[in-house]
Amino acid sequence: MSKVLVIYYSRSGNTEKMAKAVVEGAKSNQNVAVDLSYHVEAEELGSYDAIIVGTPTYRTQMPIEIKNLFEEASAKQINLKNKIGSAFGSYGWSGEAPQAVIEILKKFEMQVIEPPIRAKYNPDQKTLEACLELGKAVAQKLSP
Ligand SMILES: Cc1cc2nc3c(=O)[nH]c(=O)nc-3n(C[C@H](O)[C@H](O)[C@H](O)COP(=O)(O)O)c2cc1C
Repeated sequence: MSKVLVIYYSRSGNTEKMAKAVVEGAKSNQNVAVDLSYHVEAEELGSYDAIIVGTPTYRTQMPIEIKNLFEEASAKQINLKNKIGSAFGSYGWSGEAPQAVIEILKKFEMQVIEPPIRAKYNPDQKTLEACLELGKAVAQKLSP
């Protein structure tokens, strides 16, 4: 069975709401197993078929936890080539982080779904539906 990872960081819960909607969408497909996680080891990334990253923007950056995860994966030469990847996240005014994550995923030669879904502060219903659809679309790509 194909495996989807939704890995996210969220300090005030906005990106977390988006992450839960992505998971709900992916889980609606019985052919994939879905994990929602706040922290994984770099080595674990290799065991997933799709990696969807939830990242808020703080001080124009992605959280250090997300940055470190992919730096470590790179240093350890974890092979993510051709895995499906995407990003989403809440922001306040500039919102650079999700696109910055997308660029990292591309360096790993992942099959990237873009543009990333972004929510200004608290995600509204429309944005949560887009997150749900992202989860469904990823699961669909992995289904036999
Ligand atoms: C100290 C601090 C710095 C922030 N810096 C930025 C920023 O540079 N650009 C931006 O778009 N939003 C910025 N924000 C707003 C957050 O991205 C926003 O509150 C977002 O909803 C947080 O998501 P979370 O609830 O998932 O942690 C900042 C917020 C705080 C508290």
